[in-house]
Amino acid sequence: MNIIVTGASKGIGYEIVRAFAAREGCKIIAIARNETALLRLREDCKSSFPDSTVIPITFDLTLSAYRTELLPRIEKHFSRVDVLINNAGKMINKPFDAISEYEFDTLMDVNVKCAFKMIKLCLPMMHKSAHIVNIGSMGGVQGSVKFAGLSVYSASKGALAILTECMAEELKSKHVSINCLALGAVQTEMFQSAFPGAKASNTPVQIAHFITDFALNGQNFYNGKILPVSVSTP
Ligand SMILES: NC(=O)c1ccc[n+]([C@@H]2O[C@H](COP(=O)([O-])OP(=O)(O)OC[C@H]3O[C@@H](n4cnc5c(N)ncnc54)[C@H](OP(=O)(O)O)[C@@H]3O)[C@@H](O)[C@H]2O)c1
Repeated sequence: MNIIVTGASKGIGYEIVRAFAAREGCKIIAIARNETALLRLREDCKSSFPDSTVIPITFDLTLSAYRTELLPRIEKHFSRVDVLINNAGKMINKPFDAISEYEFDTLMDVNVKCAFKMIKLCLPMMHKSAHIVNIGSMGGVQGSVKFAGLSVYSASKGALAILTECMAEELKSKHVSINCLALGAVQTEMFQSAFPGAKASNTPVQIAHFITDFALNGQNFYNGKILPVSVSTP
């Protein structure tokens, strides 16, 4: 299984890579900007799971050099992609009247456009049964409880969710599945900046195990779905 995880340097993405590394036969490309953290992740996986293959790729996903810089580095290791997890994300917790246009653009860029660009890049390497998992948020689900300060972040996750639904229609002929997991509270740096002092209902390790199981098997049961993964609010 060839797996790509974005946003792998910390939080949920870090633990997703570790959970895949624990499984036999998974080769994982781990993408983020923080090179030191990615190298630490590879060492961490090697010491816990000596047979694991984790390939760190340091890349800022907001750049446009996907074809010229990122693709050759992926193709060096993978000729096909079985699972793509678009987990990289950014959160800005600010009241609507304080958030700038620049911040709006940044949130949309990291949370929606980077997933769009990763999918475009990987699709030619995806075949029957491949699975794209977009990491959304409960805030991006219509009718869910909403929180002040998270309007643009939540809107970006809403856009990612609808992109998922629409893309599933277009990918049917290719037999590639795509789903969006709308996560609830997970104890990470991002959660702390959204809800200072609050305690999340799940740890990154717990959610990572759910996400890896889903990424490997969920396409047999779901396609084009926005699935809430939450036991508490927030
Ligand atoms: N934690 C929660 O409660 C929660 C709830 C709902 C949804 N989520 C979603 O779950 C995902 C993971 O969240 P988290 O809590 O683990 O967040 P986190 O700890 O802040 O980690 C975010 C990851 O995204 C990467 N990233 C950000 N900008 C990037 C860029 N331009 N290029 C490449 N990588 C980039 C970061 O790596 P670098 O800084 O090294 O680039 C980091 O690895 C996000 O999509 C988030 O929206 C989280």
